[in-house]
Amino acid sequence: MQNESLLDVQGLTKVYGNKGSLFVPRKEMLAVNNVSFSIKKGETFGLIGESGSGKTTIGRMVLRLIEATAGDIQYEGKSILSMKKGEMDKLRSEMQIIFQDSGSAFNPRKTIGEQILHPLNKFHSNSDAGYQYNKVIEMLDVVGLRADFYHRYPHELSGGQRQRAGIARALIVKPKFLVLDEPVSALDVSVKAQIINLLIDLQKEFQLTYLFIAHNLDLVAYFCDKVAVLSKGELIETAPTIELFRKPKHEVTQKLLSSILTLDGDLGEYYRKQSAI
Ligand SMILES: Nc1ncnc2c1ncn2[C@@H]1O[C@H](COP(=O)(O)OP(=O)(O)O)[C@@H](O)[C@H]1O
Ligand SMILES: [Mg+2]
Repeated sequence: MQNESLLDVQGLTKVYGNKGSLFVPRKEMLAVNNVSFSIKKGETFGLIGESGSGKTTIGRMVLRLIEATAGDIQYEGKSILSMKKGEMDKLRSEMQIIFQDSGSAFNPRKTIGEQILHPLNKFHSNSDAGYQYNKVIEMLDVVGLRADFYHRYPHELSGGQRQRAGIARALIVKPKFLVLDEPVSALDVSVKAQIINLLIDLQKEFQLTYLFIAHNLDLVAYFCDKVAVLSKGELIETAPTIELFRKPKHEVTQKLLSSILTLDGDLGEYYRKQSAI
């Protein structure tokens, strides 16, 4: 199983543009340029690059939340870009996303429980209210939140708790693949580690495959099997994590690494050890 690829991305390209009008000139922007990578089943694949390099655009194209301009995306050997709506809808429950900003990822007027339930209703309609309630409580437990969080509103939760709720909402439909778009960037260091450890535990428990997006190499050595470095919309280096830490080939990667190695405290020590392997 470990060697089977789950996702194959070939020549993925995205051009953003306005259509232009009499008053606004037509403008195009190449956000992602000819990007290719594969993710194996059960793997955590890190996609790293500075802000604006095209990471979110790639994550969203992979889930078809936005359409690619060119290229191909195969999920379990099937091209998803040519899938019809019905087929794509079926696949949507297998592929979920966790957003960076857990604040705006939730509707402020609905309870956490209602929102965790939402994808279940969308993908697996089961009208039994008792079953649904129990399912949400089970998911809250899986991510380490007590049952009474069901009735709370998003603003009553801390950032870390909201991110846990986001994970529960993604997992309720039993996905196989998760895009984690900077899931811990907005959190304090200690909470970051808790959420990453939770993601590691859940990966084992539910055989998940992750595309982990981040703007630096912080946590990557700890979390990712493979890393791809993105710069200005292009992949400049892809390697198993240990190799990348030992021998970064590209200047941009070296710069990303040196910023980690100057970190103080335990984390800095951890990375110094990693890079000395
Ligand atoms: N909807 C959009 N319309 C036009 N340009 C966009 C849109 N979304 C992102 N961009 C641009 O595409 C580039 C890549 O953005 P993004 O994928 O969000 O990068 P990252 O996630 O690495 O910060 C940026 O220059 C950004 O301004
Ligand atoms: Mg982004």
